[in-house]
Amino acid sequence: MRVSKNFIIGLLIFLGLAGVVASSFFVDYRNITSRASKTKPAVQVPESTTPPQAKIVEEEKIKFVAVGDFDSEARFDQTLTNIKKAEPAYTLALGDLSYGKIPEQQWCDKVNSVLGNKPFEIVPGNHDIEPKSQLTNFSRCLPNRINNIVGSYPDRYYFDKGKTLRTIVISPDVAINGNPNKFNPGSEELLWVEKILQDAKEQKIRWVVVAMHKNCLTIGEKTCEIGQTLNNLLIKNNVDLILQGHEHNYMRSDQLALSPTCLNILPNKVNPKSCTVPSKTSQYDKGNGSILAIVGTGGAELRDINKNSASFPLFSKFLGKFNDPTYGVLVVEVSNNKLSAKMIENTTGTVKDTFTIDYKITP
Ligand SMILES: [Fe+2]
Repeated sequence: MRVSKNFIIGLLIFLGLAGVVASSFFVDYRNITSRASKTKPAVQVPESTTPPQAKIVEEEKIKFVAVGDFDSEARFDQTLTNIKKAEPAYTLALGDLSYGKIPEQQWCDKVNSVLGNKPFEIVPGNHDIEPKSQLTNFSRCLPNRINNIVGSYPDRYYFDKGKTLRTIVISPDVAINGNPNKFNPGSEELLWVEKILQDAKEQKIRWVVVAMHKNCLTIGEKTCEIGQTLNNLLIKNNVDLILQGHEHNYMRSDQLALSPTCLNILPNKVNPKSCTVPSKTSQYDKGNGSILAIVGTGGAELRDINKNSASFPLFSKFLGKFNDPTYGVLVVEVSNNKLSAKMIENTTGTVKDTFTIDYKITP
């Protein structure tokens, strides 16, 4: 069969046109499907079957400041500024507030103008009752601001922060309302503190802090004014931290502990080494003894350390007039498993001492 040349040319043109149409159709089709795939809802991936990680809950810390022996000079103002910087929940003012240099209200006004209405709890000192008691006025302008206090403010009281911390304030050898507060054996005040310590044990309160103004074991110039009976009662009961003022310097002991080889820790007498549980790193374990911190560095003129004192080996850190003289405050943080403390200098914020007590869960 003969095919004409014109027919072949016509056929070729037709096929060419058909190809163009077909290719443009496929390009459009690809675009449509591509757009469709973009708008198509994403495939639902089943959620991970791995259980969510347990939320790490920051343990609540109770932060407080302890410092005493303020006086009424510029150094007292610096102490207040330092306290404010630490942002404590409350301050334990370890006695000897104004030394009678300015009216009580004026002294309180200074405190309240810096710290607002934050609790500034009074621990009575001898200069607060001499030559006449200023405690009525002080407790009027610096009233108790802790809501669950038990006892009588400011002379003898305690308060709990849940089951984490019990703080007990007493006034040994500071006569208030006709009570000389001698804490003699069998005295009402001694029995009271014994009962409160026992109650803390029964209630399984983790940490116990006892604050007072005067001392027993010291490497300053004072003597055992609180009496050995009270001193040994606190240590025998493993009070975690004993806080005092009165000496105008900073002294901090190792853990003091009574045992069959250390029946008493006596002032003015070299005590056996077994009376302390030392730690080169200042990291202690709960239950091994009581740490004593004397923090009379709130502003009153500093005094010297007596390195010849029989109690000298009991102490791990000291700051005095001729030994790195320091005005500052002790900032204490307490959580269920740790009590940690820092002695912070007033003007530079330098940490001059630090120690911790760990609660270790025994299997
Ligand atoms: Fe003092």
